[in-house]
Amino acid sequence: MTDAATMDKIVALCKRRGLIFASSEIYGGLGSTYDYGHYGVLLKTNVKNAWWRAMLQERDDIVALDSAILQHPKTWEASGHLAGFTDPMVDCRACGQRFRADHLGDLPCPQKPSRHPGEGPQCDLTEARDFNLMFETTMGPVKDSGATVYLRPETAQGIFVNFKNVLQFSRKKPPFGIAQVGKSFRNEITPGNFVFRTREFEQMEMEFFVEPAQAGEWYEHWKRARLQWYTDLGLRADHLRMREHDPDELSHYSSATADVEYLFPIGWSELEGVANRGDFDLTQHAKHSGEKLEYFDPQTKERYVPHVIEPAAGADRATLAFLVDAYDEEEVAGGTAGEAGGQRTVLKLHPRLAPVKVAVLPLVRKDGQPEAAREIVAALRGLMQTEYDEGGSIGKRYRRQDEIGTPYCVTVDHQTIDDQTVTIRDRDSLEQERVAIGALGELLASRLAAPWQSPKLAVV
Ligand code: GAP
Repeated sequence: MTDAATMDKIVALCKRRGLIFASSEIYGGLGSTYDYGHYGVLLKTNVKNAWWRAMLQERDDIVALDSAILQHPKTWEASGHLAGFTDPMVDCRACGQRFRADHLGDLPCPQKPSRHPGEGPQCDLTEARDFNLMFETTMGPVKDSGATVYLRPETAQGIFVNFKNVLQFSRKKPPFGIAQVGKSFRNEITPGNFVFRTREFEQMEMEFFVEPAQAGEWYEHWKRARLQWYTDLGLRADHLRMREHDPDELSHYSSATADVEYLFPIGWSELEGVANRGDFDLTQHAKHSGEKLEYFDPQTKERYVPHVIEPAAGADRATLAFLVDAYDEEEVAGGTAGEAGGQRTVLKLHPRLAPVKVAVLPLVRKDGQPEAAREIVAALRGLMQTEYDEGGSIGKRYRRQDEIGTPYCVTVDHQTIDDQTVTIRDRDSLEQERVAIGALGELLASRLAAPWQSPKLAVV
């Protein structure tokens, strides 16, 4: 069976349900920037929280950091971004568009008949030249006398420039990590594929500082751990792979890099990179700042510059992968317990990632049912993200919750008023069971915490 998810369907669902939509829409949008609505914020927050949990809660060798987006311009000189954070770009003199020279074969030409840039009879491409991806701005109120600063193109450098600070106050010693989540900005020449490649995005990066001799071992550790993180959160293992970079693909700072790749509808594409950055960053910042960025081991009395293993993920790209993996369309028989027949679209998200965990629905808007439902919402609200919904037929409300991936719907009906029981509907199996209201909180909490695997595994 082929996967129902296409990029167009994901974009349409995100817009229809207000998860993610084009930014500045009333002005016609702004190239490749997106806004997240209520359910999108909840979903992406759950992705970031799952990452924090894996970094901080489930281990004790990593500390958190939130560094500023604007950093001293010397940061980017030292890191190599000013000189080398470029992509090759060509302009077309005929249509005025810009393209990434190394992606021409994957890009559409805006001229008809539609071909790749450079292939049409009118195409007139310039020679490729290097284009720096950093956004520049001016610090201070007067443009001419202000200093040029850059919106950070990665969160990683904020970690390296704080190495000494963190070492002092965290009382950690290698092997230890510093983790950060935050916005990064790149003036991508050809952004696209929805939130896969945008000019403003969020990264989840962790720099793990180790003794040089242990770098290879930790590189293997982090490759395994990061792949596992995605499968634990329900991504199908056969849609994930680890791809080691060829030597000619490696960044200037890296001696080894592997990408976690996901089989998006656009094909296998990078989800996250795991890099062995050696001592490049600390050495560079030490050279440019004059500060010693080293570790002194009081036991061996040795001083060394730690090597760094970096798992660097994108929060938006990961959110897109979870959406794609969860998206499904299926035929529902209907007719029973309010279930509407016909085709349904459903997000089979890992319950931990689902924006809303439980929706409480009165069957009808009378006979004390809305009041009983609101009491249940009030009791569950402190335990999990809960939503009350009384608008439309029960079948329509189930479909609405399916489309945002709500794992459980609790329905209040005539019997509830008599015996204080409700039904719980399972998003994936569509099974309904009747339980006592008093048992609801504990039951739902234990189901939400249980191990989970994608029901799509069984059918695809
Ligand atoms: N510090 C290393 C670093 O930034 P990267 O491979 O350039 O490495 C890491 O970025 C991750 O950030 C990528 O795997 C991707 O998930 C995300 N990312 C990078 N550029 C992006 C963009 N333009 N839009 C969305 N996500 C992006």
